[in-house]
Formats: sequence, structure tokens, C-alpha cells
Amino acid sequence: MRYVSMGRVPPKRHTQFRENGTLLVEEVMGYEGFSGNESILYHLTSPCDVAQVGEFTPIEHEEWVPDAHVHRLTNTPPLPPGGDPVFGRHVLMWNADVELGIAKPTEETDAFYRNGEGDEVLFVHEGEGVLETIFGTLPFRAHDYVVIPRGTTYRVRLGAGPHTWLTLSTPGEIETPNRYRNRYGQLLEHAPFSQRDFHPPAALEPHRERAEFELIVRARGGHQRFALDHHPLDVVGWDGYVYPYTFNIHDFEPKSGRLHQPPPAHQTFQGPNFVICSFCPRQLDWDPLAVPLPYHHSNLQSEEVIYYVDGQFGSRRAVDVGSLTLHPSGLPHGPQPGLVDKALGATRTEELAVMCDTFRPLRLTTLARDLDDPSYALSWHTPAEAAVT
Ligand SMILES: [Fe+2]
Repeated sequence: MRYVSMGRVPPKRHTQFRENGTLLVEEVMGYEGFSGNESILYHLTSPCDVAQVGEFTPIEHEEWVPDAHVHRLTNTPPLPPGGDPVFGRHVLMWNADVELGIAKPTEETDAFYRNGEGDEVLFVHEGEGVLETIFGTLPFRAHDYVVIPRGTTYRVRLGAGPHTWLTLSTPGEIETPNRYRNRYGQLLEHAPFSQRDFHPPAALEPHRERAEFELIVRARGGHQRFALDHHPLDVVGWDGYVYPYTFNIHDFEPKSGRLHQPPPAHQTFQGPNFVICSFCPRQLDWDPLAVPLPYHHSNLQSEEVIYYVDGQFGSRRAVDVGSLTLHPSGLPHGPQPGLVDKALGATRTEELAVMCDTFRPLRLTTLARDLDDPSYALSWHTPAEAAVT
């Protein structure tokens, strides 16, 4: 990320900084102790100040252990909308590195939220709105990745809907891939995006209200509630490299080649033991003998989750927009029968999809069971009488 400064900050860090004579409270928010990226924020009130301690509620995933190990289609469109932008997130798959879910929020909540144990990504499939955060207001729109660093206090104001989000949370860091950055952190010329494509909050307005506010902090596998008697978004200025931002998937510059480009060409973010890739509309492979679809592959150490956003995904048949497929480790996968023949000679694809490949197995929730389409596992089957001999 690039350096950003918003609002008022003193010329020297760790010096007296006042508003109307009152000393402001300086907070350093950083990763890896004091060795990673950080931002410095100046609050009207101590961010430690809580008026009352509420209840702690553990987060429990109801696990589904399927009887069979197969490719899966999670048919999310029938999932009814509902809930708020935090508690309306439904986890479908998870492991120690990442949680993946779907949200279709319809309600706003006045409570503020802070994920104290994970970075979050909301891929906004449908809808628009604003994140009100301690770093300022961050507008988002359809097809944005909204990346929210842990420790960011925020709430969501929903704009025009409907709202459908693919949601991720990781105990690690969400970053641009190392190979796209030079040794100073600047994105390289061959990266599929530049710093200009990443949008920090648009405006910072410190809130001075003294009233009761609720703060919900995710930590230690649960939600801790607090009551505050001041507005938590009380920052008059901040600067640094840690802040929430948006990146619109249409600002990803897709790569094509003479022959098929594998998923790492589409990588957008990295996390610990997982990657996030964007499959965007693009020209297809131009060799006259090119096969413009993925070859069958066994990702021996990966579980592949694809969320279908728009268009017709070239290598999948009968998968609705808004659904997810899971191709787990141990099983090869590739285009379904007939699709390669159909694709030969194609010069362009309009597919739009988000992929999350995890390097460790994913566990499934009972919601994934409820939305599971068992026929998907057999969708590669060619009956013997129809097979080419
Ligand atoms: Fe794949």
C-alpha cells in the first residue's frame, strides 16, 4: 500500500498535538509488533475508553462432514437476503487460514464493529454503500474488493441494493502478491494494477458526539461487546500504510498469452496459505492451435473455490451467477465435457469470477450442505454409450 495522510497530523510523530487546547490521543496501529506496516491515528478520546463491558459470545461453525469426497457446487442464489453487514455473513467454508462466506445484508445496525483477529475482504457482487471507519468514509460499489485491516473500527451504511457479498476473513494479512512489488513496496510495471487503482477512504470527519454507542470486537474466536459513551470514529487525522481500501475488479488488467495462462496470472491478493484471483473479461489465447480453456489439473496441494460473478464461465456448465464451486485436493478437475470443443477458436471471454485457492483443506458448514448440489460431482461423466471410442 502507499502512504496516505488524512485530516490533521502533527509535523513530528510522538509530539504534543492539541485540538482547542486538549491533548489528542496518539495511537500507533501496526502489524508484526513494530516491524510491519503501521498507521498513526490521533483520537479525541482514548481508544481504550469503554464505559461498560458487555457479553462475550463465541463464534461457532456448525460443521458438515460429508459422506463423500467430491467436487461441490454451492448454490447460493436461493439463500434469502437478511441480516446486517456483520452478523448477516454466513460462513460456508473455513480452515485455519481463511473463512469464506456469503452475505446478503438488508439491515443496517448502529453498532460499530472491529475485527481484532483478522483482515477482511468483502467482494461486493451487488450493491453499493459506505464504510464509516476510523480512517474516514470509504465508498464502495459493485465489483469492488473492500479490504479492511484488522483493528479497523467501522460500520456499514447500505446504499442501493440488492446487496450480495462474498466475504473472507483471515488471521493473516491480505496483501498484493510479493512478486508484483519492488523492494520498496511499489507495484512493478508488470503488475496487473497500480497504486492508482487502490482507493483509500474519501473523507475524514471526526465525530465529537458524547452519547451511548455499542462496539463489538471480534477476538479470541468470539464477539466481545462494549458500551462506549463517546463516538468511536473520533479521529482528527492519521497517516501511514494501514487503512481500508477498495479495488474494483474491473481495474485488474488481465493477462492473455499465445497459449493458456494459468491462475497465477490472475492473482490479485495473497494471504497466508491462500491466494485470491480475478478472472476478468479478456482476449483469449491467440495461437491458431491454442485451447483457450484450462487444461485438466490436479492442484495437489490446493482447494479451489470459485465464485461466479457475471458472464458465462468458459470451463463450467450449469453454474449460476452467485454460486460457488469447490474443487478439493485429491481430485483432478477441468472443463466439463464438450466445453473444450465449443471453445476452440474463441477469441474473447466475458467471464467474471473470483477464485480463492487455499493450500490446506477446507471444512464445510451445514449451510454449505443445505445449498449443496450433489449432481455437480457427476457433471464430468460421459456415459459409455456416448463416449468417443
Ligand atoms: Fe482449477
